[in-house]
Amino acid sequence: MSTLSPEERLRRLREQVRHHEERYYVLNDPEISDAEFDALLKALEALEAEYPDLITPDSPTQRVAGRPIEGFQTVEHLEPMLSLDNTYSSDELRDFDERVRKGAELGDVPVAYIAELKIDGLSMALTYEDGRLVRGATRGDGQRGEEVTANVRTIRAIPLQLKTDLTARLEVRGEVYLPRAAFEKTNREREAAGDPIFANPRNAAAGAMRNLDPREVATRGLRAFFYQLVRAGEEAEGSGYAHHADVLTALASWGLPVEPHWRRCNGIDEVIAFCDGWAEKRRTLPFDTDGVVIKVDDLALRARLGATAKFPRWATAFKFPPEQATTVLRKIEVNVGRTGAVTPYAVLEPVFLAGSTISMATLHNAEDVARKDLREGDRVLIEKGGDVIPKVVKAILPHADDSQPWAMPDRCPSCETHLRRDEEEVVWRCPNTSCPARLRRSLEHFASRTAMNIEGLGESLVDQLVTQGLIQDVADIYALRAEQLEELVVAPKDPRSDRARPRKLGKVGRNIVAEIERSKQNDLARLIYGLGIRHVGEKAAATLAKTFRTMDQLLQASVDVLQTAPEIGPVVASSVRDFADEPKNRELVARLASAGVNMNSLAPQGDGPGPLAGKTFVLTGTLGSMTREEAQERLERLGAKVAGSVSRKTSCLVAGADAGSKLERARELGVETLDEQQFLALIMNGGS
Ligand code: IVH
Repeated sequence: MSTLSPEERLRRLREQVRHHEERYYVLNDPEISDAEFDALLKALEALEAEYPDLITPDSPTQRVAGRPIEGFQTVEHLEPMLSLDNTYSSDELRDFDERVRKGAELGDVPVAYIAELKIDGLSMALTYEDGRLVRGATRGDGQRGEEVTANVRTIRAIPLQLKTDLTARLEVRGEVYLPRAAFEKTNREREAAGDPIFANPRNAAAGAMRNLDPREVATRGLRAFFYQLVRAGEEAEGSGYAHHADVLTALASWGLPVEPHWRRCNGIDEVIAFCDGWAEKRRTLPFDTDGVVIKVDDLALRARLGATAKFPRWATAFKFPPEQATTVLRKIEVNVGRTGAVTPYAVLEPVFLAGSTISMATLHNAEDVARKDLREGDRVLIEKGGDVIPKVVKAILPHADDSQPWAMPDRCPSCETHLRRDEEEVVWRCPNTSCPARLRRSLEHFASRTAMNIEGLGESLVDQLVTQGLIQDVADIYALRAEQLEELVVAPKDPRSDRARPRKLGKVGRNIVAEIERSKQNDLARLIYGLGIRHVGEKAAATLAKTFRTMDQLLQASVDVLQTAPEIGPVVASSVRDFADEPKNRELVARLASAGVNMNSLAPQGDGPGPLAGKTFVLTGTLGSMTREEAQERLERLGAKVAGSVSRKTSCLVAGADAGSKLERARELGVETLDEQQFLALIMNGGS
């Protein structure tokens, strides 16, 4: 029988578990077997079960929350998360060095750089307070990301408690990634379950981080590396470190995983040698790296060099040359896009390249195929750069016997209409606005995440709905009934999986109808973008909605008036006018309006602060009328801030169904709460 107090026994056990987590996940140098580690963890769990009051949030047993979280909140970064400028050759690296030396006024003195491997993952910002992990956030748009703390906590390479007595709030940044072996395992499992497989480890890691169930995330085998310290809004030079190398050493000494192959290079020649070496050696690593990041070591010099709006001037990313393979070009087929553009693509003999099996490649346009003289049956060289979809570089001559130069088909493969091409354009188009292929693409676009965001209305369902004649345009989506969708038989689109059999939608169908219903409340900006007006991207749609406020006003505006909107030029303006002048489009919009689709902008007018400026809202529970993301979007449009937890600073808690601890806390603190009806009334009345 131990004479130690339970507190002391728990403290010792936790320390042992933490120590072995670090040996295994951070240092890649375990001291005990997996079974021994599991036994330690079990002993800790058992003791905590005996003394539940002594469980602390930073205990290694508390990594995985017991149930799914409700959604992700948007959070602001301490400092913008910048991206990196890219270089592709030693000449470009020398240009970078030249710029640094000029900026540093160093003359011919070589600059000391730190060269690090560029991890092909997902950037992540962690906040520690008092050494304790309090927040994990994705990069998002650089200014604001998604709060994914519950998922980050499940990554055993990430310490819940730093080995430092620093008490300041500090932020570290790095990359969450999926080792290649874990990626392959994930894909094997997905294939067996009939789910679509991930194209690469980066997508798989990003997919895992977006999962709402931390228990699921914990099983994925995610890892992380860290390379930057941002403290209380300041870069590390304010914190006593003079060199980046010292920062990396400090991060590692606190127990954070730091990719160990970084090197200090004296001058650009050493950097180039490092890059050349790793272009080959990278395949021996257990994770994907797509290049080398080169950073000025001297932090004071970094501060002098500063940054442009997007990139720091003190760093650059050297991208490894794309990986290549050869295979057989079986067939050249064409695809019809939403605007009628008909583009060729290559059907390949499947080949393994850079972590995945490739069976298709893009071919840009007919002219490109002719210039490269690609023919069916040719052996071809393909390459995979940063993009998911590989491209065909060239044919390896001689051509296959009896081969013929490829020619664009005369007619649309979907509706057989004669294809046309404008004089000055390279793109061939199907001019038939009712072409079923064009319709499919328009519907997919309308329902997509960035447009009307109708979850579940994807490629396979759209395909069925069009094939069965249930929808002829986007307005028909709103006439779909739950009974129709429940009975619909849909085949998942991934042909590689033989478990993916056609099946009835059933309950899923009902959920999709609920999603369609919900999309009626969307902001006008989403609708404008979803209509797929030529040249009107997401940003232009948002500007148009904010400026013209209603669909009617937008469709009545002349080309000149349209151009009074910020950053709307003649091309977008004429395109909107052309759209509005087409009676078919007017009719379509009228049908959407009578189906109850919102035709008004919900954004605050002008650029001034919204009516809820200065107020902080917290959302909890389930809202029946919209997702949490949308509720947040609405509140933010009215100028409110949306936070993740209730505190004295919270102005108002919106409590949906099944609200739990946050509601209790709000009551304790006397924070005003709104139920769903009251919340809807608030946003419909523009915040008052
Ligand atoms: S430093 C301001 N170092 O690459 C500089 N980034 O293409 C911040 N990345 O957004 C980035 N490995 O997500 C840095 N060793 C490394 C990196 C790295 C991967 C990612 C990072 C960044 C992206 C830029």
